[in-house]
Amino acid sequence: MIYQVYPRSFADGNGDGIGDIAGIRARLDHLAALGVDAIWFSPWYPSPMADAGYDVADYRDIDPVFGTLGEAEALIAEAHALGIRIIVDVVPNHCSDAHPWFQAALAGGPGAPERDLFWFRPGRGPNGDQPPTDWVGEFGGPTWTRTTDPDGSPGDWYLHLFTAQQPDFNWDHPRVRAEFEDVLRFWFDRGVDGIRIDSAGLLVKDGTLPETLPDRPHPFRDLDGVHEIYRAWRRLADGYPGDRALIGEVWMPDRQRFANYLRPDELHAAFNFDFLGCAWDTSALRECIDGTLSAHAPVAAPATWVLSNHDVTRHVTRYGRADTTFSFAAKREGIPTDLELGTRRARAAALLSLSLPGAVYVYQGEELGLYEVEDIPYALRQDPMWERSGRVDPGRDGCRVPLPWAGDEPPFGFSPDGAVAAPWLPQPADWKDRTAQAQTGDPNSMLELYRSAIRVRRADPALGDGDFGWLPAPDGVLAFRRGAGFRCVVNLADAPVPLPADGEPLLASGPLDDGLLPPDTAVWLRSVDPADASH
Ligand code: GLC
Ligand code: CA
Repeated sequence: MIYQVYPRSFADGNGDGIGDIAGIRARLDHLAALGVDAIWFSPWYPSPMADAGYDVADYRDIDPVFGTLGEAEALIAEAHALGIRIIVDVVPNHCSDAHPWFQAALAGGPGAPERDLFWFRPGRGPNGDQPPTDWVGEFGGPTWTRTTDPDGSPGDWYLHLFTAQQPDFNWDHPRVRAEFEDVLRFWFDRGVDGIRIDSAGLLVKDGTLPETLPDRPHPFRDLDGVHEIYRAWRRLADGYPGDRALIGEVWMPDRQRFANYLRPDELHAAFNFDFLGCAWDTSALRECIDGTLSAHAPVAAPATWVLSNHDVTRHVTRYGRADTTFSFAAKREGIPTDLELGTRRARAAALLSLSLPGAVYVYQGEELGLYEVEDIPYALRQDPMWERSGRVDPGRDGCRVPLPWAGDEPPFGFSPDGAVAAPWLPQPADWKDRTAQAQTGDPNSMLELYRSAIRVRRADPALGDGDFGWLPAPDGVLAFRRGAGFRCVVNLADAPVPLPADGEPLLASGPLDDGLLPPDTAVWLRSVDPADASH
């Protein structure tokens, strides 16, 4: 199980209201008690924070708000001592406009060699005042920004698939390739066990800059040339002792194209956004699970199961709505939500995902049952998606609210006692019931459910990767076995269903009702006689 730490919001060691490495080090015991195998850290590099650190100004250092490189090294060592592996987030598609290469490109004016490291192009129209293409950015809005030449006159435009503060690198340039291989080495040399690759499908662009047209190859998504980059990275990772993993952020509706990233000489794993967006519905989930497993089988890569991350609506909230799917395009705020229902389903989904074959990613706070915070005052919202979408998309702040650790009122132990600054986003008052402290020792809490489930998962060789098979089940019920003796049954129907008579319940996501499995509840069972399990 890989746990995603979003450093800004995990724990604040120095009391400035922003999470940091000191805070993470002080809370490593929580992660060890949860039973995590690895931690993935969202970016912690020096950054102007135009996109919360996904705008990197220096790939080989730590932003002072988070701490120092020395502290990061200490954290890596401490995690390793606890048997926890470390994954860092590398952002290769773009950097920050404060990155020295981009600054040199701007300062050097037209013809500066540094401009070849990015996508500088003249504008269209007689005065060059039209952008080179009409591409729409990944956060909505334009993808080109015009520069001003050193002499003050309007100059060329540069490409940015995200915000204007995130200029895209030109991956056709050998210096860009060499630079990132060196960045990988920098972190591998510091003992890092894996790299999460941001926006992994976007790096290569069609240099002829065609418009995006239906039935035409896309100008920047999933171009074939991107695979050569990951083959080189794989060779590099394989050259290190031990296992060094490459994990791609690949948003790709086509499962076949997705699996191409996982061929044996490319990435080790990629996030399964199909599952993250899937409805709480038996046939949709079954189709997603089957499709995922069959796409991964030919490339022999482990599947991944992801319910939440720092970019999407927390699944306690998603599952509490009439439409339980996730998509950036859909309306995401001001929708009636039943948090009790969402929580019940999230508990069942935890047992489902933790018993499917492959790796599970847990986003910080998911183990506390946190919901999406939807009432963050406009003035406090920081995610650029909010403004760039013309305040149509609520942005991603609602899943990034600082974690509640202990106590009855904000900052709930997120910052040390006596901290003068409030947490960088306000925490809901009713999170007093969802602090790690309040949930510890409460057998009905989300935290204890995660702890128990992960304990079983780590101890049982049938779980994790390996053998899987569906079992017959009534309508609205998912039932599958792992190995011969382990079974998971999830009831998504409206009425209780009988539990299998021949299994011993190991763990349930909610109270079992006298031999019945209530709606929106999952149970793990062990066959009394393993030979029976296949019937
Ligand atoms: C990825 C990150 C997201 C970021 C974007 C641009 O999608 O997960 O948080 O805004 O890339 O780097
Ligand atoms: Ca801090």
